[in-house]
Amino acid sequence: MSSLSTKPISYWIDSTSQINNSEFIENISVDVAIVGAGIVGLTAAHRLKKAGKTVAVIESKKVATGVSGHTTAKITSLHQLIYQDLIAELGQEKAKLYADSNQAALEYIANLVQTEQIDCDFSRQNSYTFAESVKQLEKIEAEVEAAQSLGLPASFVKTTSLPFPISGAIQFENQAQFHVRKYLLHLAKSIPGDGSYLFEETRVEDVKEEKTACRVETRRGKITAKDVIVATNIPILDQGLFFAKAYPKRSYLIGAPIEPENAPEGMFIGTGDKYRSIRTTPYNGRLLLLVGGEGHKTGEVTETNKRFVPLEEYARARFGVNSIDYRWSSQDMVSFDKLPYIGKLTPLHHHIYVATGLSLWGMTKGTLSGMLLSDMILEKENPWLNLYDSTRATPFVSKTSIKQNADVAIHWIGDRLKGRQDSLSEINPGDGKVVDVDGEQVAVYRDEKNTFHAVSAVCSHLGCVVNWNDAEKSWDCPCHGARFDCNGQVLHGPATKDLSNLQISEDQEGQVVSV
Ligand code: FES
Repeated sequence: MSSLSTKPISYWIDSTSQINNSEFIENISVDVAIVGAGIVGLTAAHRLKKAGKTVAVIESKKVATGVSGHTTAKITSLHQLIYQDLIAELGQEKAKLYADSNQAALEYIANLVQTEQIDCDFSRQNSYTFAESVKQLEKIEAEVEAAQSLGLPASFVKTTSLPFPISGAIQFENQAQFHVRKYLLHLAKSIPGDGSYLFEETRVEDVKEEKTACRVETRRGKITAKDVIVATNIPILDQGLFFAKAYPKRSYLIGAPIEPENAPEGMFIGTGDKYRSIRTTPYNGRLLLLVGGEGHKTGEVTETNKRFVPLEEYARARFGVNSIDYRWSSQDMVSFDKLPYIGKLTPLHHHIYVATGLSLWGMTKGTLSGMLLSDMILEKENPWLNLYDSTRATPFVSKTSIKQNADVAIHWIGDRLKGRQDSLSEINPGDGKVVDVDGEQVAVYRDEKNTFHAVSAVCSHLGCVVNWNDAEKSWDCPCHGARFDCNGQVLHGPATKDLSNLQISEDQEGQVVSV
């Protein structure tokens, strides 16, 4: 089967069942409310409950079906090539805090899997960043030196188990991988009971910090809590301006069955613009080879389905796989200064916490976020808190941030002025386009049965114009990464409001009109 004819679902989600926590209880009061049941929220909730707090985890969809359910699930402190930059930009001491904290997050997961006997395909693996061209070799060697100087388990290798030649690689020993959703479902199941709750299919629209407590407003009712953690990939609350301190990036993965004798051992990531991320996972007595890459800023590519094709060609040519069983894509916020933001929503908030900007390495940084935020709420000392302080100001003046925020301005103004088509006949079944209707931008999707679904194309976050994503059949905002399904329902923040539904048709001259 080819990547384009296979089912578009994450292997982690397809191979696990749902838990049913859809009931909602209004007006409850807990110590800590946690918005989002991904790796950040569930790690924090699990720790807080064990420390004696009552918690309520509130998830807009199902547990671990957002960003955490779409990852490569590598648990490693090897983050492609980062340590030479961290040392140059932040100094040796801060770079060491980054290294130590990510190693600690890895060991935290390993210990939890061991002590709670979590059945989640956890295995120790070496992790590699490899260069195929000799041009990249210098960077690899510099990264080895930088990582070793920070005490990381790093070494330079000339060969790996990859079935093609490389010019060299950095190897981190004793890292790990797992089945992320099996792990997170275990954490999720530990939450309900003894005054704690897990509410799925409950969208939070606002959180307010008031004098005596925080108020969490959901579409199904209110909850009161002393502290609130907003763990929604990008915070759904705008006050911290995190949407302007990081940018949203989409990336793509395919899963192909592979015989164990042909599979590489370890977890890999390449270098350069066209890098590939590679690992395997147990799969019905065989292995599933995961190949990822083809990333781009959210909303800037419309024909996203085509992004799977180079991944499929790579898997077939390099690993000799015959068929592709899975394809999926994901989205993460990339921080401008390479560090995640973990801490208070703003310096003026004392009880609302956030974590974002995990920059595609969410297993260690997400776990670390859960560890740090729970420690903050429990008023425990933690040596890494300052490094990741979410209220730090420097990212606003970085080169990347200036470009990204200029791009946002260009989208905000330019997309409104763009000549859009005004005929429905140009939209094929299964496709979506933005159509001009009496000067209004309307996002129109024609489904496979030829029914049109029309919603406002103006993003409900801050008003940029959305673009079609054909792989996910979604409307994606190029400004801060909000995503909506073809009926306008929010799929991904920072938006919390749906796109408004519209009725349209064509008049006798073939012009689209509102009805
Ligand atoms: Fe901010 Fe759309 S996500 S304007």
